[in-house]
Amino acid sequence: MPRLGCIAMASVVAGSVNAVSLSELCKVSNVQAAVESLDILGIDLDASSVTAAIANSSSSSGGMAKKKRQEMSQDDSESYTYCNVSMTYSHTGRDDEVALLYAFPTPSDFANRFYVAGGGGYSLSSSATGGLEYGAAGGATGAGYGSLEGTSFDDAILYGNGSINWDATYMFGYQALGEMTIVGKPLTKALYSMANSTTLYTYYEGCSDGGREGMSQVQRWGEEYDGVIAGAPAFRFAQQQVNHVFSSAVEHTMDYYPEPCALEKIVNATIDACDPLDGRTDGVISRTDLCQLNFDLSSIIGTPYYCAAETSTSLGFGFSRRLLKRQGSEGSQTSSTPEQNGTVSAQDVEVAQKIYQGLHNSRGERAYLSWQIGSELSDASPSYDNTTGKYVLNIPSTAGGYITKFVQLRDVDNLSDLDGVTYDTLVEWMQIAMVRYLDSLQTTLPDLTAFKEAGGKLLHYHGESDPSVPAASSVHYWQSVKEIMYPSSSFSTAALSTAGNSSAASGETMNDALEDWYQFYLIPGAAHCNTNSLQPSPYPEDNMQTMIDWVESGVRPSRLNATVSSGDYEGEVQRLCMWPQSPLWHGNSTEFDCVDDEASIASWTYKFDAFKLSVY
Ligand SMILES: *[C@@H]1O[C@H](CO)[C@@H](O)[C@H](O)[C@H]1NC(C)=O
Ligand SMILES: *[C@@H]1O[C@H](CO)[C@@H](O)[C@H](O)[C@H]1NC(C)=O
Ligand SMILES: *[C@@H]1O[C@H](CO)[C@@H](O)[C@H](O)[C@H]1NC(C)=O
Ligand SMILES: *[C@@H]1O[C@H](CO)[C@@H](O)[C@H](O)[C@H]1NC(C)=O
Ligand SMILES: *[C@@H]1O[C@H](CO)[C@@H](O)[C@H](O)[C@H]1NC(C)=O
Ligand SMILES: *[C@@H]1O[C@H](CO)[C@@H](O)[C@H](O)[C@H]1NC(C)=O
Ligand SMILES: *[C@@H]1O[C@H](CO)[C@@H](O)[C@H](O)[C@H]1NC(C)=O
Ligand SMILES: *[C@@H]1O[C@H](CO)[C@@H](O)[C@H](O)[C@H]1NC(C)=O
Ligand SMILES: *[C@@H]1O[C@H](CO)[C@@H](O)[C@H](O)[C@H]1NC(C)=O
Ligand SMILES: *[C@@H]1O[C@H](CO)[C@@H](O)[C@H](O)[C@H]1NC(C)=O
Ligand SMILES: *[C@@H]1O[C@H](CO)[C@@H](O)[C@H](O)[C@H]1NC(C)=O
Repeated sequence: MPRLGCIAMASVVAGSVNAVSLSELCKVSNVQAAVESLDILGIDLDASSVTAAIANSSSSSGGMAKKKRQEMSQDDSESYTYCNVSMTYSHTGRDDEVALLYAFPTPSDFANRFYVAGGGGYSLSSSATGGLEYGAAGGATGAGYGSLEGTSFDDAILYGNGSINWDATYMFGYQALGEMTIVGKPLTKALYSMANSTTLYTYYEGCSDGGREGMSQVQRWGEEYDGVIAGAPAFRFAQQQVNHVFSSAVEHTMDYYPEPCALEKIVNATIDACDPLDGRTDGVISRTDLCQLNFDLSSIIGTPYYCAAETSTSLGFGFSRRLLKRQGSEGSQTSSTPEQNGTVSAQDVEVAQKIYQGLHNSRGERAYLSWQIGSELSDASPSYDNTTGKYVLNIPSTAGGYITKFVQLRDVDNLSDLDGVTYDTLVEWMQIAMVRYLDSLQTTLPDLTAFKEAGGKLLHYHGESDPSVPAASSVHYWQSVKEIMYPSSSFSTAALSTAGNSSAASGETMNDALEDWYQFYLIPGAAHCNTNSLQPSPYPEDNMQTMIDWVESGVRPSRLNATVSSGDYEGEVQRLCMWPQSPLWHGNSTEFDCVDDEASIASWTYKFDAFKLSVY
């Protein structure tokens, strides 16, 4: 494959890229000239591979929030004409091939922006057009294992039994997106003849694994991004993925498989009981901490439940049940359950309690945190065996496939059973995976100095009732960053002293430096990267606008707008509290305060003493 040198082409480029129209910009020869002007260490671009053609996009594929807004307003008609560019590169000294895809807006629409969208599950985004609505160029990568053609990373992780594809692992982990960005930025500047000194504002937006990917960019390529929006990151990958089998392990250990309807009733009854604790009765637990501190699950024992017979679809990685139903059942399991009519038993409640308490080893040491009380118990639904009429073990494929492939290195898609598997086994799986993938998939490096020093802004959010990636997982990372980067500022439960929830003053000053560049928001009642069918929660829909204002106009947010899309308060815009403050409503009104609450923060704070290593 011919590699073109990168010498002294700049003047040629400058001459050829004064493109005023899209058709001039989008000439193959023009893009090739720009590609030849790039000189990027370790990356050998193949200018002869360049394709360029004008295309139309009918819908953008940006962050989840944006998608949702389009869905709600049925507004899918926005179309952008752009230049669709592809090329390949290899890593110096290797004969690998990595595909790149870029979308360049019409020059008159170009707003000096570059936009990177996250993927989900085990997939990187395959679309480059998510930034067009912001006047941004954008890119996507094949990551060297066919990601653009739809190959999922879990199909690439093993060459065969026992043999890890480390190239694919690092590329998926963080490298591929970073490389796509360091090629895409100077390419964009060249194509639009931007002066060297003009800033190309660079944004990242994604949720779920897309949130993890965003964190990977902040951690590894911090100086490249001006604004990163990371939702419900599926990071701390070893703990996060193995934790998906924890609910099944609880039932297997108890040798008790509850009727799914009983678990659903427990969740519904918890929501009913805890909804008012935040001051307003609106169907949303805005303060899961108060629920955890004040509500006794065993009060649900004896409550009757009823569910009609149904055919249901269980969780796939990264998606809530509701979303799956809407999108069809890709990657999921379908099962039929009969009518269920009973009363919640002590054992049903025990299952829920153990799940919400989180994984501990046999010495009682905590290994991981759990979903917030009131979150759907999505991983806990047993399968119905219609030959015996009994509920039996169900292993979510999110965990099953992770354990077989990433931990056991067996090239099979699922665990067949949990025979001999104890809580200690789960901890051991987490330990193996954490150490093995510490510098690739774990994605929890807490030192973000490079990002901060370069002026980057990070907006991190998480649905408080997320049943897939626990909200506390995000809180723990925020705490880790705080402790590593501001070790002398002692903001913690102690710093609030006895002020309880009434005084914000001390907390504010101590967090000020961090909030200048990293802000975290819990979204009350929200599920995984989406609203929640069980709680009419608010959801943020203008994260990019907030970020653009912050990066380009210096408008530092202090709250995050989120809109309620169903229920009694439909249409209400809530200005969410920035962590570590939490909301407290003034009765059934539209007003709430953002309060500091020592007991609340303590309930969100964990030590994972089942591991000898620090777990960030
Ligand atoms: C894009 O859409 C415009 C307007 O509908 C149309 O004129 C043009 O031919 C389309 N271009 C391509 C490449 O499809
Ligand atoms: C963009 O270019 C790639 C590579 O040639 C091609 O596979 C893809 O279909 C193009 N996209 C559009 C929307 O034309
Ligand atoms: C453009 O910027 C790069 C790095 O930021 C620098 O190395 C180069 O000399 C600059 N070129 C011009 C023409 O200023
Ligand atoms: C739980 O609440 C949801 C939403 O209100 C409802 O659709 C469902 O039937 C309830 N389930 C049970 C078991 O009560
Ligand atoms: C608040 O609203 C709920 C639900 O509409 C209602 O049951 C409750 O009585 C109201 N509380 C007050 C204090 O008005
Ligand atoms: C559920 O069972 C109870 C007690 O057997 C019965 O009274 C009730 O009608 C049943 N409900 C439904 C909807 O079948
Ligand atoms: C049991 O479930 C299987 C698979 O879902 C289905 O094919 C079969 O018809 C069911 N049998 C009965 C008796 O419902
Ligand atoms: C994985 O295997 C378990 C145990 O056999 C089973 O319950 C579950 O349905 C399987 N999941 C998938 C996605 O095949
Ligand atoms: C990989 O190992 C599994 C058992 O762990 C076995 O079923 C499968 O056949 C093996 N695959 C190959 C290609 O040897
Ligand atoms: C918070 O403060 C209010 C009054 O300012 C008080 O009524 C409430 O009990 C406090 N809540 C907690 C959890 O301390
Ligand atoms: C957030 O909402 C407030 C009040 O509704 C509004 O003034 C503000 O412009 C909104 N901010 C953004 C970024 O949409």
